[in-house]
Amino acid sequence: MNKYALITGASSGIGRSLACQLASRGYNVLLTSRSENKLKEFAALIHNEYGVDALYYAADLSEESAPARISSWCTSLAILPNILVNNAGYGLWGSFDKLDLDGQVNMHRLNTEAVIRLTYAVLPLLKQHDQSYILNISSTAAYQPVPTLALYAAGKSFVLSFSRALRFELKDSQVSVSCLCPGPTATGFAHRAGLDALAKLAEKFNMSPDRVANDGLNGLFKRKAEIIPGLLNRLSAFGARHAPDTVVDWVTSRLYKV
Ligand SMILES: NC(=O)c1ccc[n+]([C@@H]2O[C@H](COP(=O)([O-])OP(=O)(O)OC[C@H]3O[C@@H](n4cnc5c(N)ncnc54)[C@H](OP(=O)(O)O)[C@@H]3O)[C@@H](O)[C@H]2O)c1
Repeated sequence: MNKYALITGASSGIGRSLACQLASRGYNVLLTSRSENKLKEFAALIHNEYGVDALYYAADLSEESAPARISSWCTSLAILPNILVNNAGYGLWGSFDKLDLDGQVNMHRLNTEAVIRLTYAVLPLLKQHDQSYILNISSTAAYQPVPTLALYAAGKSFVLSFSRALRFELKDSQVSVSCLCPGPTATGFAHRAGLDALAKLAEKFNMSPDRVANDGLNGLFKRKAEIIPGLLNRLSAFGARHAPDTVVDWVTSRLYKV
């Protein structure tokens, strides 16, 4: 049977690696992001490299109607995805009161509301298979508040909490829900967040998007609830969960200081 994976934010970074690795595991891929040209080139590359179908749909997921349009696109193609990957997202670095409000709200919409709406729209399609999966991409920022990435970290905490609750609600169904929480990863993320000043430091800790995607998919197919790639990231999440709040806040307030 033809298996399909729907991946948001598939044009670069972690999403691109997830798409390649799903294609190498025999999944046809449904790619979405805003950049139509990038998606077109990438779909052709995937088809040539892995011999699977690679279809694409350009949409801005911070628009309220985009998730429903993406799910209608799947049904118009008579495709019922077996995997939904909610990966599209970005951060904005700076003080909450100094960053542009509309820009922050737009980011928050993509990082949270689009996950809610797309999951709601695609869940009935996923439920039509004997086994299907949702992979939500959160971050190690989910494990504690992060000054200067306040709204980003709060949004990623939402994604983690939502994923765990949904997983429990769906535990007797055929849909398994996992949440991938990467730490710093070598993608365009830091540049878009305005974190170039920390690029040198980040290079020391960055994981590759291929490694993050590989750990994520291994965890997904083992039906793990939470997947944190890399020992250092697992230790930092453990520390954030168990250390007193005052210590955690003190450490994180220094992490992203330029
Ligand atoms: N890199 C890290 O250090 C890191 C760490 C933890 C978690 N994460 C999370 O990992 C996920 C992927 O990020 P990445 O590191 O791979 O960054 P990236 O290379 O910047 O990729 C982000 C992807 O999201 C898409 N996207 C951005 N805005 C969009 C919008 N409004 N509508 C639809 N698609 C949009 C981008 O494509 P277009 O520009 O074509 O739309 C791109 O494909 C994000 O959720 C991020 O929060 C990243």
